Amino acid sequence: MRAVIGFVLGALLGCAPLQALTLHHEQADPSDLRVTGILPDAAEGEVRFVRYEDIAALPTSEVKGRPEWLHEEHTFTIVFFRDFIRALAPPASADLMLVNCGDGYQANYSFDFIATYKPFFIVKIDGKPPSEWPGNAKGNRGPYYVSVSEKIVPAYAQLLDGDSKRPFGVAEVKLANAAKTFAPLYQGSRAHGSPLLIRGREMFIDHCSSCHATADGSFGGKVSSRPIEILSVFAQNAPDYLIKQVTDPKQFDPKSKMPAHSHYTEKEFDALIAFLAAK
Ligand code: HEC
Repeated sequence: MRAVIGFVLGALLGCAPLQALTLHHEQADPSDLRVTGILPDAAEGEVRFVRYEDIAALPTSEVKGRPEWLHEEHTFTIVFFRDFIRALAPPASADLMLVNCGDGYQANYSFDFIATYKPFFIVKIDGKPPSEWPGNAKGNRGPYYVSVSEKIVPAYAQLLDGDSKRPFGVAEVKLANAAKTFAPLYQGSRAHGSPLLIRGREMFIDHCSSCHATADGSFGGKVSSRPIEILSVFAQNAPDYLIKQVTDPKQFDPKSKMPAHSHYTEKEFDALIAFLAAK
């Protein structure tokens, strides 16, 4: 009887047992996902591979959404990060997932973000695997495409830079510890800060870090050659230029890969500068 009650409760809480994901030592196919960081039975820094079929065999749901590179909605077959992580069963020190794309873009998801906003892998679009995705003629947007949907969690639409949590061309995930990963952003006068500085740090982690890394490369994307240390020099010496660049990068470089942030308020710029200018 207890077992039955336990099972029913487990199912209600979403804790029903999941098929574990097998971590392979070798990549057998380009569609295998590279997995690294804090993993069971692997030293930190070692790389493992998870097969696409195994991820697609985890519990799936369907949701309509518009792929970033298309104009109309399609049907996504999705696997929630929560189920993926539970099936990997990492050690308890893992509380952050970094997602790395082929072009150097990096998105980060704390386990709190994952519980609140329910990000997912899109494993099929209109029932088709990545090689047959619509609009893929100019290059494959797979093997993995990650997204978050306001149809699943309406509060997602309120995020300041929600698009940075929807990367495509994903090739690798890294399970990490947030305190360790973000430690360089808590050093010196950034250790304790005003509410404004703390807000600026959140903005940097949530968004700017997708392309701007730390100088030692321990964290952040590689789309931009300018690490946070260079952005700090601009924030200290030329904050007006930094604000102009962030508002509309194309005024300086028409081909800039950096998105415009014309939606930032004065308060948000104050927060960014307070954080970046702190030494
Ligand atoms: C999608 C990628 C991307 C994101 C997100 C992004 N940037 Fe950039 N940023 C770039 C690229 C690319 C450049 C051009 C310089 C280069 O080639 O590295 C750049 C340049 C800059 C520069 C000018 C540097 C210089 O040398 O003149 C500043 C300042 C800057 N970014 C700040 C930010 C801040 C602050 C954020 C977050 C609000 C941010 N960026 C978000 C990609 C990005």
